[in-house]
Amino acid sequence: MTIPQLRGAALATVALVTIGSMAIPDAAGAAPGNPGAPRYSAGAASVGDPYFPDEGNGGYDVQHYDINFSYDPATRFMAATATITAIATQDLDRFNLDFRGPEISSLTVDGHAHDFIRDGQELVVTPRPKLKTGQAFTVVVRYAGVPGPITDPDGSIEGWVPTDDGAFVVGEPQGTPAWLPTNDHPTDKATFRFTAKVPEGLTAVGNGQLLSEETRDGWTTFTWDSTEPMATYLATITIGTFVVTESTTPSGIPVYVAIDPRQVAGSAAAVAQIPRMVDFFASKFGPYPFASTGAIIDRAPDVGYALETQTKPIFSSPASVGTMAHELAHQWYGDSVSPQRWSDIWLNEGFATYAQWMYTEYNGGASVSQTFNSSSNYGRAASSSFWQIVLADPGPEDMFSSIPYNRGAMTLHALRGKLGDDAFFRILREWAASRRYSHAATADFIALCERESGRNLTAFFDVWLFQKGKPTSW
Ligand code: ARG
Ligand code: ZN
Repeated sequence: MTIPQLRGAALATVALVTIGSMAIPDAAGAAPGNPGAPRYSAGAASVGDPYFPDEGNGGYDVQHYDINFSYDPATRFMAATATITAIATQDLDRFNLDFRGPEISSLTVDGHAHDFIRDGQELVVTPRPKLKTGQAFTVVVRYAGVPGPITDPDGSIEGWVPTDDGAFVVGEPQGTPAWLPTNDHPTDKATFRFTAKVPEGLTAVGNGQLLSEETRDGWTTFTWDSTEPMATYLATITIGTFVVTESTTPSGIPVYVAIDPRQVAGSAAAVAQIPRMVDFFASKFGPYPFASTGAIIDRAPDVGYALETQTKPIFSSPASVGTMAHELAHQWYGDSVSPQRWSDIWLNEGFATYAQWMYTEYNGGASVSQTFNSSSNYGRAASSSFWQIVLADPGPEDMFSSIPYNRGAMTLHALRGKLGDDAFFRILREWAASRRYSHAATADFIALCERESGRNLTAFFDVWLFQKGKPTSW
């Protein structure tokens, strides 16, 4: 989905193509000697993110994903139809999707059946007729089989993870293609609809709002609608035995919480505080970005982490108050404002961790200064390996280590100390507002800080983000 910040640039390119017949042919557009005629080429097989070089693709912009599927936990068998609506951003004679799921039985583009090639995670499509810049097109992929997990550079698993009563579905940073063909990069957001048919008695919980739930012949079909743009890695349609509670926050946001009965007792404190957390963060960061909130608390011992799945963070074990605060804060920082490159991960994890520190203080626990100075943070010895990696580029193995989380949060606390509360919270709110439903890079954040504070912060960000070693002055 085209992001607001880029819309101006995209229009400028289109304008150039229109005047191309007079003077300047657009690089990717007109053929030499025949300005204005399409010049077809293959969309890039990658967006060029060095941490995951196969992730994402070029040449089109996805608007909407619709997946309709059945899943039986007894056999782990899925039968699915995915419908992807996109707009060509260049004249295309070929494009790729990212897909690591089961066997494909058919693929159509605008109703025409097509051959396709699968090469690793690349699903290569050759549309005929070819697609022109600006043209909307619809890809329908039918597939069936047993989807499974994907292993990350840090050894953790994600994707489609079968559990003893269903499946735990998470996708950061590269898991969603395990079960859905996507343009799998946070720079191409889209709206989503999931229609999941599961054996009666089980619940399928997706992002967004529940549109319908219908039982027939021993199967229940759940339809979930995500109405705000979402990065592919934040998608979930998790299946299991769940106790469901629906309520609203004091400010009127619908809350949908699904908990595995075995996790109810251990999660009670965290669940009870969801409305208060959302309202606290809204008072600091600006309006909650989505039409609903909630949580999915499952039992997936092999996963061992939580994820900020959009509108409903997901937990693989009982949710603690701190982790619940962290995942809900991600709805602003990570979900609504996503990283432009995975090396920008501190913009997600540092912000969510700092919000967690703030909530702890608000809740009567340690102050943020105490947490900053603790032995897991600034109190770590300068010789610790914790300080020996560049925060702005931690590498794929350390994306989810304490480095982006704790050093990221410390960077924000140091920034707050330097600029004062007024400028600091103005920056956090402006970051959420100006990049809403979009993505941004570390350089954009630095530029915003300098603009809002009127100060040159090169030396500050240099010691916190770009140098190894424990910062001593800033
Ligand atoms: N972003 C998640 C969190 O901090 C962690 C995701 C970890 N993912 C992974 N593949 N290890 O809440
Ligand atoms: Zn996080």
